[in-house]
Amino acid sequence: MRKLFAKPKNGLHGNLAVPGDKSISHRGIMFGSISEGKTILHHFLTADDCLSTLAAFKQLGVPIKRDGDEVEIRGVGLNGLSGTFEPLEMGNSGTTTRLIMGLLAGQRFNSILVGDASLSKRPMKRVSEPLSLMGADISVNDGHLPVVIHGTQLHGVDYQLKVASAQVKSSLILAALQADKPSTFVEKLPTRNHTEKMLNAFGADIETESDNLTIHVQPKPKLHGLELTIPGDMSSAAFFMVAGTLVPNSEVRLNNVGINDTRTGLLRILEKMGGNVELENRQDNGEPTADLVVKSANLKPIQIGAKDIPDVIDELPLVALLAARANGHSKITGASELRVKETDRIAAVSNEFKKLGIDISELPDGFDINGSDSWKPQTNTLDSHGDHRIGMTDAIAALLVDQPMNLNNPDIVSISYPEFFDDLQKLL
Ligand code: S3P
Repeated sequence: MRKLFAKPKNGLHGNLAVPGDKSISHRGIMFGSISEGKTILHHFLTADDCLSTLAAFKQLGVPIKRDGDEVEIRGVGLNGLSGTFEPLEMGNSGTTTRLIMGLLAGQRFNSILVGDASLSKRPMKRVSEPLSLMGADISVNDGHLPVVIHGTQLHGVDYQLKVASAQVKSSLILAALQADKPSTFVEKLPTRNHTEKMLNAFGADIETESDNLTIHVQPKPKLHGLELTIPGDMSSAAFFMVAGTLVPNSEVRLNNVGINDTRTGLLRILEKMGGNVELENRQDNGEPTADLVVKSANLKPIQIGAKDIPDVIDELPLVALLAARANGHSKITGASELRVKETDRIAAVSNEFKKLGIDISELPDGFDINGSDSWKPQTNTLDSHGDHRIGMTDAIAALLVDQPMNLNNPDIVSISYPEFFDDLQKLL
């Protein structure tokens, strides 16, 4: 149990550099490992999820050294990983699990993947089924971890994805790199494109058509190591963007945040709701970045549907919080993917928000919210539901109520943002 920070008297103020992007940190380790030569990652995210990826690749025989947020990888090449009889521990990380399945399916050894209780409930057939169309030999335990992979020669395919998921897409791309002929994948909706962009920077030949949905992957690339500075994570900056917007009299600067279009749905939603976020100091070293200057604002309600979801998927609990503060009726639909995140985030958000006195109803694929600028909490104890993003959303919500609040299972924030409470304190 942790005592959450109480409503600040004079708003949030100050500058922060949020930790490195989680998606890019995972991929930096993976792609560096399967490249030839040295890869150096600066501003690597030293959170539990990315450390699971780092440990797994060490177990697969890749020499990796880490000093704080600097990582040096001696890449072994696409065919240089070595198998291990020990299960590979995926921890809580869906990204590690799903991406590594595509990679290990095409290797010359067998692997077993295990994970924690939350990860062991998450669906893995969405990856194993399309991979088996490519010839992969993968046994999933009733659709879940543990997963047993018998490495084999994979075949190129033309495949239309059934879910809008960057993890599934990325897994298939990693398999396609090892296939006997080119592959084409067609997404339902555009999802984060870090895999395509980064693998091309490492030397792959992956072409995305102008529809932003159709992706052609050439097999057997020669990947070479590179040096990469990982941008601040938009999904971590999002907590302070929302806090700075909702807590009156705030002005917060978030330095060097990744603003790849496939990740900036929250910026577009805030703009529609009447938020005040300015982008300064734009740069582009492979992935675009900017400093975000956030000031408090009064918000209008919003309606968002399926096509708006992928580029704000991890920030939807925060969008619900914005809606809960905007006077009037907001509706979020098309987000059934939230049901299969680290916890069922539709149920968890509804449960936590009701405790805060927010008028919210669960929909099968989202929320109905009647926002108001004051809530009457029913309890002083919130719960992370064992989900990092729910715990951090609770901590931001607690800044908006008059009474002091506590959080059960707060340490789960270390999955993506170990310094979250310290960074929030810096702004108070
Ligand atoms: C991620 C993709 C998204 C996202 C997750 C990270 C990635 O998951 O929610 O936090 O790095 O590819 P889905 O692919 O399941 O939508």
